[in-house]
Amino acid sequence: MKQPYDLEQLQAAWQAAAAYTDKGNVATYIPELAKQDPRQLGVSVFLPDGTVISVGEADVCFTLQSISKIFSLIVALCQNGPDYVFERVGKEPTGDPFNSIIKLETIKPHKPLNPMINAGAIAVAGMIQGRDVEERITCILDLLRKMTGNPDIRVNEDVYESEKRTADRNRALAWFLKDSGVLVGDVEETLDLYFRHCAIEVTAKEVARMGMVLAADGVDPLSKERFFPADVARICKTFMVTCGMYNASGEFAIDVGIPAKSGVAGGILATVPQRMGIGVFSPALDDKGNSLAGVKLLEQLSRAWNLGIF
Ligand code: DON
Repeated sequence: MKQPYDLEQLQAAWQAAAAYTDKGNVATYIPELAKQDPRQLGVSVFLPDGTVISVGEADVCFTLQSISKIFSLIVALCQNGPDYVFERVGKEPTGDPFNSIIKLETIKPHKPLNPMINAGAIAVAGMIQGRDVEERITCILDLLRKMTGNPDIRVNEDVYESEKRTADRNRALAWFLKDSGVLVGDVEETLDLYFRHCAIEVTAKEVARMGMVLAADGVDPLSKERFFPADVARICKTFMVTCGMYNASGEFAIDVGIPAKSGVAGGILATVPQRMGIGVFSPALDDKGNSLAGVKLLEQLSRAWNLGIF
């Protein structure tokens, strides 16, 4: 009997998307990311019964970058509760690029509009509790180690150092947040935590499994262990729909229709409620900073498997 989600259709979506890997550009503002091979394309699908189907570079390591903003938000929500978090960061999409500074000053109160843009994620990093940066990053790493089943999930030190050396724009955002009273802790330590969680290294296969946990409302599909409350999963998936692809979120919602979060290393985490997690990796980006071939692949797959949630 033909499986509802078969490898042939995944291969066809991969094939169609592979034609776009030379249409985008790898991120260069973090110098270490400029070394990535733009021709790579990998996809992995994780189903509720633990079945994994993958095509292409699904075992290649890349850094989460902005995908990590979902997991810092989960930790911040679990540690502080939604009231505390949303007093300091909003719930609205911006329509602006991920690193934009403009609305921080023009909108009152001066809190970041949502936790998926850089300013919002830096504010969220400031809410993560722990004695020092090491203990705070361990909270995020531990969550990801449980979600992926890989106890070796770690920070890529080269990418972390590379961003830390060059992140003038993020520094500007963080100091503005400090001046506005949104960020209360030490600014450099908060940035350090933010750079570290952006540099956490994963594969598309691992991202697919993380997506499945979100699809299952915070429960590990295999062990049935709950990693975070269903309401936290709901908040994250809603942000993924409204802000996960930045100023392309509306277009993505119409063309693909799945909660998703991109990162500038070329990863996309997509989560289809109750049905599957999808991890995609292709480092060449479009002009909004989303993986170009990755978006094409998800478009194809959503159509083939009727994955849209709307
Ligand atoms: O702060 C930055 O600019 C990066 N560490 C993360 C940005 C990012 O991944 C945007 N996503 N598409």
